Amino acid sequence: AQQIPDILSAEFAANPYPAYRAMREHAPLIWHEATGSWIISRYDDVERAFKDKESVFTTDNYNWQIEPVHGRTILQLSGREHAVRRALVAPAFRGGDLQDKFLPVIDRNARELIDTFRHTGTVDLVEAFATRFPINVIVDMLGLDKSDHERFHTWYTAVIAFLGNLSGDPRVMADGERTRVEFAEYMIPIIHARRDNLGDDLLSTLCAAEVDGVRMSDEDIKSFCSLLLAAGGETTDKAIASLFANLLLHPEQLAAVRADRSLIPRAFAETLRFTPPVHMIMRQTAVDVEVSGGTIPSGATVTCLIGAANRDSSRYAEPDTFDIFRDDLTTTTAFSAAADHLAFALGRHFCVGALLAKAEIETGVNQLLDAMPDLRLADGFDPVEQGVFTRGPRSLPVVFTPTSD
Ligand code: HEM
Repeated sequence: AQQIPDILSAEFAANPYPAYRAMREHAPLIWHEATGSWIISRYDDVERAFKDKESVFTTDNYNWQIEPVHGRTILQLSGREHAVRRALVAPAFRGGDLQDKFLPVIDRNARELIDTFRHTGTVDLVEAFATRFPINVIVDMLGLDKSDHERFHTWYTAVIAFLGNLSGDPRVMADGERTRVEFAEYMIPIIHARRDNLGDDLLSTLCAAEVDGVRMSDEDIKSFCSLLLAAGGETTDKAIASLFANLLLHPEQLAAVRADRSLIPRAFAETLRFTPPVHMIMRQTAVDVEVSGGTIPSGATVTCLIGAANRDSSRYAEPDTFDIFRDDLTTTTAFSAAADHLAFALGRHFCVGALLAKAEIETGVNQLLDAMPDLRLADGFDPVEQGVFTRGPRSLPVVFTPTSD
């Protein structure tokens, strides 16, 4: 039988893609003892798990995976409760709110960061931009104090480590639980004060939101903000870094995007397919279920490998080639990510922030390309990806002709 590297091995962490291919082709259903989960990797199987209306694949296991670090969030909810809770928050991330209130915030935060390095001619895009921009945007959208940036950064790093702690390291678990307490101590008084003094920011929108007579408690808002740090920070961070790594490694595609900025949505969609920020998402079975290769029993945890599904040759031509011009990308100017890849999941938990992420990418990439003419990788540098649960380039040193604003 084919030897497939374990998802917790160093070999897998260095490059999971050969293992993903071997799983899809030879072992599309694997029982994985160390994580206590069944691993699925084919596009059709992962798509089915995401699209399921919760009769078979639920998010019930998030109660023990996510509750200790975030508290109760929409990710754990199902049925009507999920629909109402999602309706409370979703409007803030699309349409008029996104366009009128938050695009200016995104634009300002991109400019502020780029102004710190545009005159230098050399920068690490991961360190100086990708890890900072999305978190700055969320903190600013919420109307929180940006001088607390480092604390947010520390918190969301601990949260992400907790969620990606596949081997159950007790130190990481303790850090995650401490973060929940510290974050609550920080946020609850702020939420309390904001209720008495509503403004134009996201926190005020959440305080005022009401659907079918349901409103969010201080605890609900705190937990949602905690989720935003991770869901909206780390993911978009990895997406920007991977987008630039992919384009820098394919200079002809970088040149095409530089010349025609309407290609940015294609570069974003293809990046999310080829190098998704989130490589695995968990579900729990409600009944016994047949999938490729066997039966998953009721009550089991299922690890859905987005990173593997997005490169399934039964779904994509030349799946291991990064190509923003590929025919099977439907994204042109309209937003149609759901048809292009599984990076935002699908179905009822489809990423609430997908349009916000797209807006951040479009603004960030446009401004970076304007500020960095002739952008290229630093001499001799070869990007290295890191992460198993979430994944992206460790660093991205680039050189360019300096500009002034
Ligand atoms: C849900 C990925 C950006 C907020 C999700 C899920 C994925 C995902 C895979 C589904 C989780 C599941 O089904 O278990 C991404 C990626 C992003 C991104 C790849 C960037 C490229 C954002 C941003 C926000 C955000 C900027 C901020 C608003 C959320 C929330 C959910 C979610 C609140 C939960 C939705 C629900 O349970 O109904 N995201 N996300 N995400 N995302 Fe994102």
